Amino acid sequence: MKLLGIWIVTLFVKLCFSVNSGSQPNIILILADDMGYGDLASYGHPTQEFGPIDEIAQLGLRFTQAYSADSVCSPSRASLLTGRLPIRTGAWGNDFRVWLTNCSRGLPHWEITIAEALKEKGYTTGMVGKWHLGINRYTYNDFTYIPSTQGFDFVGHMIPFGGSYSCEETGRYGNQTQTSCALMYGDEIIQQPYYHENLSIAFVEDALTFIRNSKERPFFFYYAAMHPHIPMFSSRRFKGSSNRGVYGDVINELSWEVQSIVDEVRAQGIEHNTLIVFMSDNGPQLEYCIEGGDPGIFRGGKTNSFEGGYRVPLITYWPGVIEPGVSHEIFSALDLLPTFIDLAGGRLADDREYDGMNNVNALLGKGPSSRDFVMFYNRDVLFAVRFGDYKVHFLTQDDRPVQYFGRLCQPFVYPMTTSYYCDENNVSLECVDYHDPPLIFELLSDPTESFPLDSTLYKELLDDIETLIEQHEETIIRAPPLMDDVLNNTYPCCNPLTNCICNWP
Ligand SMILES: *[C@@H]1O[C@H](CO)[C@@H](O)[C@H](O)[C@H]1NC(C)=O
Ligand SMILES: *[C@@H]1O[C@H](CO)[C@@H](O)[C@H](O)[C@H]1NC(C)=O
Ligand SMILES: *[C@@H]1O[C@H](CO)[C@@H](O)[C@H](O)[C@H]1NC(C)=O
Ligand SMILES: *[C@@H]1O[C@H](CO)[C@@H](O)[C@H](O)[C@H]1NC(C)=O
Ligand SMILES: *[C@@H]1O[C@H](CO)[C@@H](O)[C@H](O)[C@H]1NC(C)=O
Repeated sequence: MKLLGIWIVTLFVKLCFSVNSGSQPNIILILADDMGYGDLASYGHPTQEFGPIDEIAQLGLRFTQAYSADSVCSPSRASLLTGRLPIRTGAWGNDFRVWLTNCSRGLPHWEITIAEALKEKGYTTGMVGKWHLGINRYTYNDFTYIPSTQGFDFVGHMIPFGGSYSCEETGRYGNQTQTSCALMYGDEIIQQPYYHENLSIAFVEDALTFIRNSKERPFFFYYAAMHPHIPMFSSRRFKGSSNRGVYGDVINELSWEVQSIVDEVRAQGIEHNTLIVFMSDNGPQLEYCIEGGDPGIFRGGKTNSFEGGYRVPLITYWPGVIEPGVSHEIFSALDLLPTFIDLAGGRLADDREYDGMNNVNALLGKGPSSRDFVMFYNRDVLFAVRFGDYKVHFLTQDDRPVQYFGRLCQPFVYPMTTSYYCDENNVSLECVDYHDPPLIFELLSDPTESFPLDSTLYKELLDDIETLIEQHEETIIRAPPLMDDVLNNTYPCCNPLTNCICNWP
């Protein structure tokens, strides 16, 4: 009886503590858009200015073997927020690789996002910036798939889709197509088409307000920056700030955005209870030449299953918990959800398969990675697998946008009429190279994937990988492609009577 009493008291104390004991850290996830592995000074860029983001990299943990979950925006973000590959969630398409502005689908509500999972553990949740996980289902303003329907309590300034040259207001690339260019605040369109110049300032102001207002409960904030995705823009303070040109200006502004968030966390005195994670959603968009980013020494970029498409900067910062240093542990964006849930004292849902792993030791620099493989998908097709330090390619795409590099980079033209990667918007995988036997690279001695190994000497490795793939495939319940359903009236529109032009800033 006495024992039972003690047990009940212990249970009671545990329950109370798990609701809010201060042991659940705040989590801030800052996602860069299309930043390449080699874009930051701290990652070796020779002309990019060393900025606040690089200082944070020195005070925190800088990863050399971090991977995005996919090589393009929408599937990568869907996987990052759910811990599940696109083939399971439907975040893929035969005709398109991202959710277009007239798509009538989005990330299914059955999926559990990081925001939903952490809310369950008592977290306050918020986001700003780029969403790109769907918007409308039937008409121009039903907003079926916006962030507030996916677990975010607070949504500040938010762009439902990715940046696009067709939204650029300077006229440099022609007239705007306003239907692609909605700026929302919460559940409403407040400006259409939007003005780029001060968007990052608006995102930062919202983030700081959220942090100040959310100190009472543990919080999760998703800062989905628009930088350094095209089109290149920055507020006046950063124009001309970089030796590297306009792309460098954009990185400098992004660096300021990160600094502002870190400074606010310090000002609120919560830095010892706040994990800040900075990551990119995929590799750089090489076809934009000097307005595209830099994959460092890696081969390929955005859309590509070579390392340049997936290997991204990852920096974690949590003073007193994370020791400053460099981590060579493998970490995937898929691991963020299980890892955050672990930090919040929660458990993964047991009614579905996850591709992400609880990788808390690697993320905090406390131990080895729980992950020894990475899957490289393009849509629903498995192109390559990393297993240990080897990477095996069954299919490859052009690693460089050859059609582009064969021509002059300047002057830049819009709209682009060529698909720079042959399989972009092209379901037939005709332009893809099949490898049988597969191409094998050892990534530590050959990170650039330049020197294939003799496959006859790696039979055991290939067998192991075949087993790994078989086990993986057995767990897959394929979701239908959700990016192909386009309707011409699901473009977001603030007001059809004004031809979708509005401005209520
Ligand atoms: C831009 O809009 C103006 C005014 O509607 C029109 O005259 C012009 O042809 C357009 N330019 C392009 C490149 O579409
Ligand atoms: C951006 O902010 C500056 C300074 O407040 C202002 O002068 C400028 O007009 C703003 N730009 C836009 C497009 O609103
Ligand atoms: C798909 O790519 C192949 C090879 O580049 C090309 O011949 C074909 O025309 C493309 N199909 C479409 C629909 O773009
Ligand atoms: C798309 O719009 C056109 C006219 O703008 C209309 O004729 C057509 O029926 C629409 N299609 C769908 C699928 O709504
Ligand atoms: C949807 O948008 C794409 C890209 O802007 C366009 O090519 C297509 O015609 C649109 N489809 C419909 C049905 O509106």
